[in-house]
Amino acid sequence: MIEGKIVAITGASSGIGEVTALLLAERGAKVVLGARRTDLLEKLAARISEAGGEVAYAATDVRRPEDLENLVAVARDRFGKLDVLINNAGIAYVEPLDELQVEHWDEMIDVNFKGVLYGVAAALPVFRAQGDGQFVTVASTAAFKTVPGQTVYSGTKFAVRAFCEGLRQEAGPNLRVTVVSPGMTATNFGSGKPDPELKARVDAIAIAPEAMARAITFAIEQPADVDVSEVVVRPTAQA
Ligand SMILES: NC(=O)c1ccc[n+]([C@@H]2O[C@H](COP(=O)([O-])OP(=O)(O)OC[C@H]3O[C@@H](n4cnc5c(N)ncnc54)[C@H](OP(=O)(O)O)[C@@H]3O)[C@@H](O)[C@H]2O)c1
Repeated sequence: MIEGKIVAITGASSGIGEVTALLLAERGAKVVLGARRTDLLEKLAARISEAGGEVAYAATDVRRPEDLENLVAVARDRFGKLDVLINNAGIAYVEPLDELQVEHWDEMIDVNFKGVLYGVAAALPVFRAQGDGQFVTVASTAAFKTVPGQTVYSGTKFAVRAFCEGLRQEAGPNLRVTVVSPGMTATNFGSGKPDPELKARVDAIAIAPEAMARAITFAIEQPADVDVSEVVVRPTAQA
């Protein structure tokens, strides 16, 4: 059941995070939005409350452990507990390794991998104290298959999946651990210099981010003893 669940979402200012917040709020969840662009969070929060939803938001850079602690604290202060943390924030630079954009490599590791670890570090003690809780982490089909130009990005997402599998095993019988892996999704995701032909092919088949929001919602709405551990949602046309 979604109604009444308290759900914090990183990367809620756009794309998959934004539409997931909207769907969960529409279904009666109390949502706590985190991202760096607080102007966008403010607008989204206004949209949710105007529609009758309950919402809070906090400036959150997932590279800063204290920001994730604050996001969890905002959920607890405002709504009394935290039921679900959605680790969704992510970035990708699509570029060949030969460019040696080492700063971009660091950034992807910091946001995509370490950002998830910091989210877990902030919420795990709270979930343990409550005796329940769910982590939903947004990985990628790049967590299953590496393609040229996405080598480091893919490495971070493989790492996220490996970490979440270990988290699931260590979490025990009371906590749920879910990984949702999107394929090509129509958001403003990704920077760098993707091959224009490849970009056109991706744009032609990318599916709406609402498909990911529905998958995340499905995992959350299951009964407490049902852990949807892994979901892959890709365009039918994606190889
Ligand atoms: N779109 C795709 O084709 C696709 C495919 C597979 C997986 N994914 C995954 O889906 C997730 C969401 O991506 P999207 O497609 O929705 O792209 P998006 O529209 O670019 O959204 C990315 C979100 O991450 C946030 N973010 C980036 N750096 C951050 C940081 N340091 N701290 C906090 N938030 C940060 C952004 O917010 P701010 O900039 O406001 O901080 C934004 O809200 C990512 O994990 C991505 O890897 C996407």
